[in-house]
Amino acid sequence: MPLRITILVGTMTGTAQLCAQEMELALDDGDTQVQTLLMDGLDASLLSGESARERVFLVCTSTYGQGDVPDNARAFYEDLKAKRPDLSRVRYGVFGLGDRTYAETFNFGGKRFDDLLAELGAERIGERHMHDASSGILPEETALEWCQQWLAKVRESQPA
Ligand SMILES: Cc1cc2nc3c(=O)[nH]c(=O)nc-3n(C[C@H](O)[C@H](O)[C@H](O)COP(=O)(O)O)c2cc1C
Repeated sequence: MPLRITILVGTMTGTAQLCAQEMELALDDGDTQVQTLLMDGLDASLLSGESARERVFLVCTSTYGQGDVPDNARAFYEDLKAKRPDLSRVRYGVFGLGDRTYAETFNFGGKRFDDLLAELGAERIGERHMHDASSGILPEETALEWCQQWLAKVRESQPA
């Protein structure tokens, strides 16, 4: 059975979405099926439902305000925080985007999701990536390399 990945995108100006599109193109083949969803309109049931057990989630989100998740991710994040579903069967990764200029809240969008999902019992696969917009490195290029390594870790940790 192919491995199914759902990329969840939190973005304000489209950079995270571009990264998600690159990752979908790179990962989606016969052995891996990738679906990309903007977080707009999502709720906690996406992660707590039965089908969540058959897939791996990749949170791809930027950071806004004072270390907040982007506007399109807010309702989903708040719903998870309010309903607190048991996510002990959920596996996920985080590709975060931010800017080190915001030293106090660098990459907090990804961090907030990571902390919340872990608190609800989900298992993170691999390290949380923290892209820095002021580094001069294009995030979509890093995303390509990062997602291949992440996929290898997902496959290694795949339950029998
Ligand atoms: C108004 C504003 C606030 C931001 N706040 C933060 C922040 O608190 N921490 C951080 O790491 N990056 C912050 N950023 C940087 C963005 O997260 C970064 O530029 C990201 O690549 C944007 O991705 P997006 O186009 O997908 O929204 C901020 C950017 C803007 C324009």
